[in-house]
Amino acid sequence: MANVVLANDHGAVELALTLVKHLTQKGYTVNHLGVSSNDSVDYPDMAELACNEFKKGSYEFGVLLCGTGIGISISANKIEGIRCALPQNSYASGMARKHNDVNFIAFGGRIEYSEDPCTILDAFTDASFEGDRHQRRVDKIMALENRC
Ligand code: RB5
Repeated sequence: MANVVLANDHGAVELALTLVKHLTQKGYTVNHLGVSSNDSVDYPDMAELACNEFKKGSYEFGVLLCGTGIGISISANKIEGIRCALPQNSYASGMARKHNDVNFIAFGGRIEYSEDPCTILDAFTDASFEGDRHQRRVDKIMALENRC
């Protein structure tokens, strides 16, 4: 089964460990880069760590978590080659893969989701990129890295 890289800040330790367990039970090999304690760390550092690890090439996707998921997803999206979604629910997480071909999915440890975050993650892992016109749009997203 595939490899997944996962990192979080202190605002999402419990959810991170839940998702590590869930992915592991599904057969993924999860490289959890931390953190596992409530000691404060800076989410941009955790995003950079996970994205650089992902870019080594042996991972299917990455998971990032902070208190809201906002700071860590913004950080990841600043890194060349990374497309990170912060889905509200399982519909959005499935579409993030089907249409946006994201390579990272983010969650907020302090967010009250309307669905179990494991279900939201399942919708992501069960989906695949649909290509075609969506590839053109993803190419346009990536071209923005060099134009703006
Ligand atoms: C940390 O307190 C918090 O700001 C962080 O986890 C995240 O919510 C930022 O977007």
